[in-house]
Amino acid sequence: MCQTKLHEFLQGLPKCEHHLHLEGCMTPQLIFQLAERNGVKLPDPETNPAYESIETLTRRYGHFTSLDDFLSFYFQGMSVLLHESDFTDLAFAYFKKAHEDGVHHAEVFFDPQVHQQRGIAYETIVSGFVAGCKKAEQELGLSTRLIMCFVRHLPVDSAQKLYEEALAYNHFENGTLHGLGWSSSEVGPPKDMYREQYASASAKGIPLTAHAGEEGDPTYISTALELGAQRIDHGIRLVEDPELMERIVHEEILLTVCPLSNVRLRCVSALDEVPIRKFLDAGVKFSINSDDPAYFGGYILDNYCAVQEAFQLSFREWRAIAENSVSGSWVSEERKKELLGRIDEHVRKYEVEA
Ligand code: ADE
Ligand code: ZN
Repeated sequence: MCQTKLHEFLQGLPKCEHHLHLEGCMTPQLIFQLAERNGVKLPDPETNPAYESIETLTRRYGHFTSLDDFLSFYFQGMSVLLHESDFTDLAFAYFKKAHEDGVHHAEVFFDPQVHQQRGIAYETIVSGFVAGCKKAEQELGLSTRLIMCFVRHLPVDSAQKLYEEALAYNHFENGTLHGLGWSSSEVGPPKDMYREQYASASAKGIPLTAHAGEEGDPTYISTALELGAQRIDHGIRLVEDPELMERIVHEEILLTVCPLSNVRLRCVSALDEVPIRKFLDAGVKFSINSDDPAYFGGYILDNYCAVQEAFQLSFREWRAIAENSVSGSWVSEERKKELLGRIDEHVRKYEVEA
């Protein structure tokens, strides 16, 4: 348990998670277990000693040198997922942990192109994750949303093919998928590589988000907005452009910030460099999220606690963060009202005691 006096308050605070890669929940234990069960060969420890054992792999996760260094392990880790039930079990294990951490609503990412590249069918991936979401809704009372991500290290053609496949299944219209995002390598590929796909999706009213301003400078954020992104995933480098920051405040664009991820991927050198205080002071709306919890040493509550240890926020500030997380969620007004009511009830208990 963390050292903050607010631990119990933070645990019970009703949360929304908006930045969670389901494939980022592959723990070293699960990777080794599924590799064995599914007969998937992991890298030879002779050439990559990290794959010697669960312990060596876990230790290696503590020493990522950059986003791309992490991504090589992340893509390797997801290679052991073969069957629909593997995807379901992975998703449900995340939702169970999130529920324990006080998450009431979760919007989760997945990367179909990477699975398709190794021969897994779109239907297997989507049906598996959808079943995990349904189980979480029924058994845990969570509301869930699936957001499909394009990955920037693969050619645009493969994203276009995936997009067409999702449209052919009517998956955005029938509620199977709730939005589109982009992720993977930031600096390198063209900033606007999904211009066509985002223009098409915007015209169809599909909610859009984008990883930007994690390693890349603020022009990655402004390009994402130009292409129609309604939320920005990470966005920490926004602080380098005060004018863009004003626009984000004015347009009430939510940033989905991932503090422990930023430290592990060396986007900042310590947690107190994540611009939480600057965002609060400027009125930038943000939520706090875990990104790839199996790789970055913590789930959502660990991220909340790490922020509290670094910034000593007040009940009132936490209330604002929780409320902004609700208002930036892609759910009905009715569900938002319900979640806001739960936050109010929780915070009141503590304000009376304080
Ligand atoms: N995919 C999984 N985690 C990611 C991150 N932190 N940034 C970009 N792409 C990702
Ligand atoms: Zn991410």
